[in-house]
Amino acid sequence: MVHFIVSRCFSSFERALSLRAKRGPDAHEGVAIPPAHLITAVSGTPHVDRFLDGGHKAASGIRDILRKNGYDVERLPSILDFGCGCGRVLRWWKGLSKGGIELHGTDYNRKLATWADINLPFAKVAVNRLKPPTQYPNSRFDFIYAISVFTHLPEQHQIAWMTEFRRLLRPDGLLFLSLHGASYRYRFSNSEWRRFSSGELVVRRRVGAGSNLCNTFHPELYVRNVLSKGFRVIDFIPEGAMGSPHQDAWLMRRLETL
Ligand SMILES: C[S@@+](CC[C@H](N)C(=O)[O-])C[C@H]1O[C@@H](n2cnc3c(N)ncnc32)[C@H](O)[C@@H]1O
Repeated sequence: MVHFIVSRCFSSFERALSLRAKRGPDAHEGVAIPPAHLITAVSGTPHVDRFLDGGHKAASGIRDILRKNGYDVERLPSILDFGCGCGRVLRWWKGLSKGGIELHGTDYNRKLATWADINLPFAKVAVNRLKPPTQYPNSRFDFIYAISVFTHLPEQHQIAWMTEFRRLLRPDGLLFLSLHGASYRYRFSNSEWRRFSSGELVVRRRVGAGSNLCNTFHPELYVRNVLSKGFRVIDFIPEGAMGSPHQDAWLMRRLETL
């Protein structure tokens, strides 16, 4: 109940932030542009240019980190954008769908997911709950990515989602995460920094779980030793998540056994 009330209040605050935004174009490269309040909910500002540019950089960054590690996004037949919002990143994969790749998105925010499902006809977008499971069958996807999503979830939710991702990924399936790492040090209090540097996850305002009100910071040690259980870390690039400035980029492969 508290979570529901807090989320509603915060979403009204984000809507108020977007009220003064100028009306932008209706579409870009043939794909509809979301209304300002939905852009604000995923980007923190209503600016259309930043929304488009950030999403484009994020998609290119994913393509690059896959390529660097010997994978081609065009050879991953089934892709899930977890926490896809209103499709800031998903919209840039339109060309992949023409090559027969199945594109899916899911988000726990019904308004964002519904907008994306209606307006990105090349992807199938669902709504999930704050905690797993989803409705997808086992081994449904070759690649799952979650950009700036675990950055807004408390620990138990993240662990539960990592277990769900293992269920959803095919053997050897790939997972990309963008996380707040050590570059956010300037935001920490002394006690938060002590916890972070000893490898503990730092979570702020867990009552806002799933919204931008809740902020989570991931030490490298925590990701390697705890979060990535059941996965092999194949790449870690500090501040390397393009389009989500200063977030760390993590690429992992699903392991057969835990
Ligand atoms: C900062 S936004 C980023 C959205 C999108 N990934 C992007 O890069 O534009 C965080 C997103 O995560 C979604 N989210 C948070 N918790 C979630 C959960 N448990 N399941 C699915 N989506 C979640 C939010 O609704 C929101 O759309």
